Amino acid sequence: MIVEALPSEKLILNDLHVSIGGSTILRGVTFSIKPKSVFCLMGRNGVGKSTTLKALMGLLPLDSGIIQLDKTAIQKMPTAQRARAGLGYVPQGRDIFPHLTVEENLFIGLRARGEKKDKQETERVFTLFPIIREFLHRKGGMLSGGQQQQLAISRALLTKPKLLILDEPTEGIQPNIIDQIGDAIKMLREEGKMAILLVEQYLDFCRELGDDFAILERGSVCASGMMSALTDEVVKEFLTV
Ligand SMILES: Nc1ncnc2c1ncn2[C@@H]1O[C@H](COP(=O)(O)OP(=O)(O)OP(=O)(O)O)[C@@H](O)[C@H]1O
Ligand SMILES: [Mg+2]
Repeated sequence: MIVEALPSEKLILNDLHVSIGGSTILRGVTFSIKPKSVFCLMGRNGVGKSTTLKALMGLLPLDSGIIQLDKTAIQKMPTAQRARAGLGYVPQGRDIFPHLTVEENLFIGLRARGEKKDKQETERVFTLFPIIREFLHRKGGMLSGGQQQQLAISRALLTKPKLLILDEPTEGIQPNIIDQIGDAIKMLREEGKMAILLVEQYLDFCRELGDDFAILERGSVCASGMMSALTDEVVKEFLTV
């Protein structure tokens, strides 16, 4: 399946094929994300959601396929170059440095890129997640799972991504922090500075925040469209466990 590269799309994934250790994991994943929108990539456990994100970030090699960010093909770029091109990735399970302070965790990405702190961006992150300012000098490992998720999102935001990519940010997190993360996503969407690719299994969260969706089943897209058009039948067939 090949989609026309519409000039207005922020990101296009076109017919991605990925295999790991000889077994095929992605079998032609195709979808595209509009500028300033929140796109939810959904599907049951093990269908290839995280694999899609890793392929997008260049952490797994493609067998074939095209990835376009703002009309530029990026599928041959190494991961660091994709990050510089505007992909801000928060992996599943957060991935912060437990022995570094919150402050060190926040700026490590910028430092690796030889970039300076931007005071305005930092303030913006503190507005989204006040707990980050409050715990600036604590070790990352002392934070709760939800706070670590907020830290990981904050770190990605400080790189000023064109596309923020979140892999199951609500997984294993207490409800009040899920709400805070949802509110942050809404604020980012309203600001309109970036598009957001949200991998999620939490249906209500997707329905509340998403503009569009795609559902994966065994490594390819089985349903997609506007979130408002996601029917209970589709939910039952492809999402309900
Ligand atoms: N390193 C690996 N080695 C072998 N198989 C892998 C590896 N990583 C993923 N897989 C397999 O690829 C498939 C897709 O995995 P993936 O992590 O992309 O799923 P997912 O949709 O993100 O699931 P979840 O919702 O549980 O996070 C699964 O069958 C998984 O077992
Ligand atoms: Mg996953």
